[in-house]
Amino acid sequence: MLRFFTAGESHGEALIANVSGLPAGVPVAEATIDRELWRRQQGYGRGGRMKIERDHARILSGVRHGLTIGSPIAMLLENRDWQNWSESLPVGQGDSEKHKPVKSPRPGHADLAGALKYNLPEARYILERASARETAARVAAGAVAKQLLATLDIEVLSHVVQVGHERLSRSVSFAELQALAAREEVLLNCADEESEQRMKAEVDAVLRTGDTVGGIFEVVARNVPPGLGTYANWDERLDGRLAQAVMSIQAVKAVEIGDGVLGASSFGTSAQDEIGYARTAEETAALASKFTKFTRAGNHAGGLEGGISNGSDVVVRGHLKPISTLRRPLASVDFTTREPVKAAYERSDVCAVPAAGVVGEAMVALTLAAAALEKFGGDSLTELRRNYEGYCEQLRNF
Ligand SMILES: Cc1cc2nc3c(=O)[nH]c(=O)nc-3n(C[C@H](O)[C@H](O)[C@H](O)COP(=O)(O)O)c2cc1C
Repeated sequence: MLRFFTAGESHGEALIANVSGLPAGVPVAEATIDRELWRRQQGYGRGGRMKIERDHARILSGVRHGLTIGSPIAMLLENRDWQNWSESLPVGQGDSEKHKPVKSPRPGHADLAGALKYNLPEARYILERASARETAARVAAGAVAKQLLATLDIEVLSHVVQVGHERLSRSVSFAELQALAAREEVLLNCADEESEQRMKAEVDAVLRTGDTVGGIFEVVARNVPPGLGTYANWDERLDGRLAQAVMSIQAVKAVEIGDGVLGASSFGTSAQDEIGYARTAEETAALASKFTKFTRAGNHAGGLEGGISNGSDVVVRGHLKPISTLRRPLASVDFTTREPVKAAYERSDVCAVPAAGVVGEAMVALTLAAAALEKFGGDSLTELRRNYEGYCEQLRNF
């Protein structure tokens, strides 16, 4: 069973990611993980912290000579900012004069709900863990999952389809997503230049006014074989598992599979993907899916029907609310005096949609990797691949 968890606080010494359940023999490289971490740190509208941190995942266990060995993989990501916080967030008692309390909760952040829940007099410890700094550890775990998926030829990428009011104006090919992921400079991770410039202007506008924006990222997974997940039990449906994984990303408030939102206002005759079959050599050569000769007229379903992958690209969108730390802070209440005050402000992003997309890739990759391991099993990559290839053969002969 593939499992992962993270530990660590935003301004603590380090983040930790632990991934267990991978078969032995999967190639895993720190450089590949670091590239994903770098991608998470990019994007127009990020806060100053991104200039301090240059994330590196140090693998402590589970990988030897470049290959997984079947035991849990532990990774350590040091927080460079720790040097500025070691006195205010010590593990021991420390000097209370040096603490940096968060005195007024920010509407939209976990500050108030967390302080009430954990019975804490202010929100410092709440935001330390609720903060999206934690997503760096998720991206490290997701990068390991991606390397497993690569052995099955599955690739997971993302792009930004909306920032504030500005939308991507055309459809984008998978090759364009691959080119985006290879870029050395990331603006808003949008493949269409004209749309990206409009998105940038939207970020500029909120930068000027002390506001923030949200948006929508789209994750696309290619070469997912039909048959991952099942309708047999509610909690085994792959659509539900993906929705939970993506919804768990900080600030994501809606998750869409394929054209889910549009589908709600469409008619049944236009919202489904009609089924055909490649009979001629020509039709076979033009097949979008490498798994089966059954064809689909489109992909409104986002690659999922009945909670099962159907062989088309798996498409999941995460809708982000605007960042809740504001230079123009909203009304709040002082934790101690209970007097009305403005909400706390700490250095912050004004737009995090491209980064959230990279986190979305990680969460989708981890979910697909778990589902693939459930279906194909195997304690070694050789065994996994044998099972996978046997299944592909079965699909071809169907
Ligand atoms: C990549 C990423 C970066 C984020 N950066 C910030 C930030 O700089 N400031 C902030 O207030 N919220 C930021 N957020 C959102 C908060 O972490 C989130 O709103 C908060 O934890 C409350 O959780 P909720 O919005 O899911 O309810 C970011 C989210 C993501 C995914």
